[in-house]
Amino acid sequence: MTHLLVRGGRRLHGEIAALGAKNAALPMMAAAILCQGDVEVRNVPDIADVRVMADLLRSLGVRVEVTAPHTLRLNSDGVHTTRASYDLVRRLNASFDVAGPLLGRFGEAEVALPGGCNLGQRRVNLHLEAFRALGAEVHRLHGFVQAHATGLVGTRILFPHVSVGATKNALMAACLAKGVTVIENAAREPEIEDLVEFLQARGARIRGGGTARIEIEGVAALHGGTHDIIADRIETGTFLAMAATSGGDVLVRGGRADHLEAVLAQFTRAGQSVTVDASGVRLTSRRPIRALDVTTAPHPGFPTDLHPPLVAMLVLADGISVVRETIFDGRFMYVGELVRLGANIRISDHVAIVTGVKFLAGAPVEAPDIRAGAALIGAALAAEGESLVTGIDLVERGYERIDERLTMLGADIVRVEGTD
Ligand code: UD1
Repeated sequence: MTHLLVRGGRRLHGEIAALGAKNAALPMMAAAILCQGDVEVRNVPDIADVRVMADLLRSLGVRVEVTAPHTLRLNSDGVHTTRASYDLVRRLNASFDVAGPLLGRFGEAEVALPGGCNLGQRRVNLHLEAFRALGAEVHRLHGFVQAHATGLVGTRILFPHVSVGATKNALMAACLAKGVTVIENAAREPEIEDLVEFLQARGARIRGGGTARIEIEGVAALHGGTHDIIADRIETGTFLAMAATSGGDVLVRGGRADHLEAVLAQFTRAGQSVTVDASGVRLTSRRPIRALDVTTAPHPGFPTDLHPPLVAMLVLADGISVVRETIFDGRFMYVGELVRLGANIRISDHVAIVTGVKFLAGAPVEAPDIRAGAALIGAALAAEGESLVTGIDLVERGYERIDERLTMLGADIVRVEGTD
């Protein structure tokens, strides 16, 4: 177990480079299953989730090599099984991303059901409906999803609501199907657009990536090549929120403002100064922080992943904020921990009512998931005195070298390797 000892009261100042997007890297690694020959993916963050996905792919027979910092070379020509084991899948929800590519290239996939995670239930019914619509036979048995097809056939898939995961799987399965597939009410997240660009460059015929209607004309094969992953908008937003919470001034170099419009609009509404130029996105904190009314939504709405870092900032706002979570049931697990730092938050029916307080005081807290952990670190940076944040292994599933990078911004953080 890794803990961080955070001595609060230091404002974050300076520049930090945006790294590659976790939520683009993971599906792209899975998409390499569809390709013949070597696929090189650059700007891959060096985080635990990427290492789990690499292990899962290796267990299927994919060759995965780290050829340079932040660069992976994958080759799927030696895949010897289409069964993704429970042991690996349960460690990473995005593991289910391998189902579409396996089914698309090999006509079969057997992938353990992801079950639940710290955010709540992770459903896959829409993924399975998409596979069935493409002509696969799909069963759930002994905790696994088993999908078989003698040849997928293009079709129209209308999702009843937006799902990032189901859009990715439907898209990847359809690339090698016969004929045209149209996905309606597709997720519009920038990571889907990046995945579409990756697939297009590998020979897939796709139109409409980043829109609610994606059209895929199946091709016989995809080939290898190199792709650079987009900057991680969630990481960028997290560092900007931490700058605001700690009363600092941070430029996220390479941060993509065009992927963060709803978030930057909320920071501005909260009275923070946001500047965007070719070098990236900068937030200069202002006091008072104004209270907000925010509802999470699929892109281009306010992202669910940035809800906890935003709440950590609103804890210090002048007035009462309301934050509604519409994507995940279990996203409020960290609220009790923020309260331990002195926050005043009440949860009622997927809504957090945050009454701003004048200051926070350091305390031991535990990170319940990746983003909430980052939010707790942000609050601990602003708190007076010491906070021991435990559960950092979870945070490091999504943020590379977070202690080291925050230290470069002036944070006082000591890494403590525990035994329990
Ligand atoms: C979600 C987020 C994504 C975030 C990621 C990691 C949205 C729309 N998606 O993606 O931005 O980066 O978590 O935190 O904000 N659902 C079903 N049936 C399915 C699939 C999903 O009912 O088959 C439901 C989910 O329970 C959830 C919603 O649809 O309420 C969105 O899920 P989905 O987008 O698929 O989740 P992720 O891909 O994990």
